[in-house]
Amino acid sequence: MDIKKLLSEMTLKEKIGQLVQLGAKFFADGAGADETGPLAQMNVTEEEIACVGSTLNFMGADVMRGIQTKYLKTNRIPMLFMQDVLHGYRTIYPIPLGLGASFDTETVRECSAMAAKEAALGGVHVNFSPMVDLARDARWGRVMETTGEDPYLNSVMAKAMVEGFQGDMGRYNVAACTKHFAAYGAVEAGRDYNTVDVSRRTLNEFYLSAYKATVDAGVKMFMTAFTLFDGIPVTANKELICGILRGQWGFDGVIITDYNAVREMKTHGYVPDYKCAAQSALSAGIDVEMMSVTFIKYIEDLIKEGSVSEADIDRSVLRVLKLKDDLGLFENPFRSADADELERVALSEEHRSIACGAAERSAVLLKNDGLLPFSEDIKSVAVIGPHANTGEILGFWHCGGRFEDTVTVYDGIKKLVPNARVEYAEGCLAMLDSTDGGGIAEAVALAKRSEAVVLCLGEHWGDSGEGNSKLNLELPEIQYRLFEEVSKVNSNVAVLLFTGRPLAIGRLDKSARAILNMWFPGTEGGSAAANLLFGKVNPSGKLSMTFPACTGQCPIYYNHFNTSRPRPDDGRRYAYTSSYIDGPNRPLYPFGFGLSYTSFSISAVKLSVKAISFGRSLTASVTVKNTGYRGGHAVVQLYIRDKYASCVRPVKELKGFKKIYLNSGEEAAVEFTVCEDMLAFYHSDGKRAAEAGEFTVFIGEDSDTENCADFILTERL
Ligand code: GLC
Repeated sequence: MDIKKLLSEMTLKEKIGQLVQLGAKFFADGAGADETGPLAQMNVTEEEIACVGSTLNFMGADVMRGIQTKYLKTNRIPMLFMQDVLHGYRTIYPIPLGLGASFDTETVRECSAMAAKEAALGGVHVNFSPMVDLARDARWGRVMETTGEDPYLNSVMAKAMVEGFQGDMGRYNVAACTKHFAAYGAVEAGRDYNTVDVSRRTLNEFYLSAYKATVDAGVKMFMTAFTLFDGIPVTANKELICGILRGQWGFDGVIITDYNAVREMKTHGYVPDYKCAAQSALSAGIDVEMMSVTFIKYIEDLIKEGSVSEADIDRSVLRVLKLKDDLGLFENPFRSADADELERVALSEEHRSIACGAAERSAVLLKNDGLLPFSEDIKSVAVIGPHANTGEILGFWHCGGRFEDTVTVYDGIKKLVPNARVEYAEGCLAMLDSTDGGGIAEAVALAKRSEAVVLCLGEHWGDSGEGNSKLNLELPEIQYRLFEEVSKVNSNVAVLLFTGRPLAIGRLDKSARAILNMWFPGTEGGSAAANLLFGKVNPSGKLSMTFPACTGQCPIYYNHFNTSRPRPDDGRRYAYTSSYIDGPNRPLYPFGFGLSYTSFSISAVKLSVKAISFGRSLTASVTVKNTGYRGGHAVVQLYIRDKYASCVRPVKELKGFKKIYLNSGEEAAVEFTVCEDMLAFYHSDGKRAAEAGEFTVFIGEDSDTENCADFILTERL
């Protein structure tokens, strides 16, 4: 399509329509009041709605075909269909926080490609994913959408997601949309939509790298965050959008706001009215307004009064037309929408297998005194708890996933050990305010007559995700009671944890014999759990986010600064140190941590040289040995510390990892190239460069490792 020629023929009304996105309920028959309500107060007219160029939050190829068919009767430019497909469309795989814990970019790429295929068949053109915000505070419900607290891990995972979603932009691919630019994860106190106030250096050093990784991977769209940067709503922030995203990084794709974010500038107290909001967003480089209509209401006037130029509007419209052209919509407005093929593909054995493998590789074994793996000769198993026999283990953004399609833990265990007596008791509900309605007694009775117990605890999926911040990361009291009562009558209790965030489960850690964190594992969660519990698969996940010892530690993350008075890590209390008088500094489980059914040894770090000059690199190597009795994956992690610099540096920074499989007794050399770029950091003037000095290389199985060697970076050797 000659989109420039098309642009030249468009009316201003048509152009403005391309820059607005309304929910599908506005276009399907019987628009829902919940979405049209607030906008009805803005008296948006049917005529204005009729030319809106994109929609979101629809479900299914037939709905898409219906809307597109009706729309094309009065519009010559096809509508763009967008959807949140964060971790699966119909076949749901682990939440992104779990995918990050897999430390396996191939798994992430494969899952993303599967989701793209199902979404494309479901009529989706653009996927509002990957969400690449850095997360350091587990009180924030949206940590479940991130791949965690580390810039490097987030960057490699974000790249894998964009590549999986977009592929070669063929029939089974969708355009990806990076969100939420930028630093949404820094909301104060972990409270969603709260103030963000980070320095430019912190923004550059910790928050921006994953967004940049998606630009380098060719992402087609960006979404701005609800929040502020430097006191200015990101949606109107020229420094971030024009300066960094479009300027420094050269991103020329479509930038869409988040839901109603243009109008919310007034709520922020940034503009006096919605007309100014529209003008601020447009002049900052926003192309499309999601779920508010200030562009429809005010662009014409803004052009007339010279506050916005039609040339600016044309630039935005051209980006939208180019995206539609890249998707082939002018040739085929229905693109890949195919309900019948989706039914054949979704939940197929192949897709279920991909989801199951991802759930297995994302799970993190947090504790095990040898209780696990259970023997397949077990005679009886009690599957107990609020997550024991429910399909509601899909996570907050489960898109078209259906609870009834889920393999529950109870299902999975029954299938894996068909000769055992496998029974189920709920014990209590997962809601925060759940009380004992007699379920505990029933569960205790079952536990009493069973050889072992799989106790499925955790948070309700609806208490995770957007808008669901928590003041308290402990499990609900009733779940601790269930654990204690069941443990009194059965000494073989393995806890399965279902959660969208790190939880402060120190009480469990103290007395549980085994804890396996499944996150929200998705459609095949029960199959994966059974395979892991009975040792068909050896757990290999490593924490993508620190688990706090108590909520008061949040935000807590491994790549922190040393401070002037670090507390010695011996558990004793020291006055006048950076510590708490009523609890530890140490987290419950550190970033990168995860156990296995086998064990590994890692030799001392060897360096090819002890000094490098700028532009040179060295090799850091170890020998990893499987010292246990069964094969398993080790995730060998490389961290670096810059001991002193013109800006203080974190005590450790992840700069590489390798996930390797070793049979019992097998050993392998693992090498990392340490180059100057790994040592670079953002200076206060915004420039990124390494500085000569002394460095330490750590290579170990988690961020607590002290297996290290020193080297120097010098101006000249
Ligand atoms: C939501 C979320 C965003 C999502 C959008 C569309 O408010 O902030 O992540 O993509 O609206 O559903």
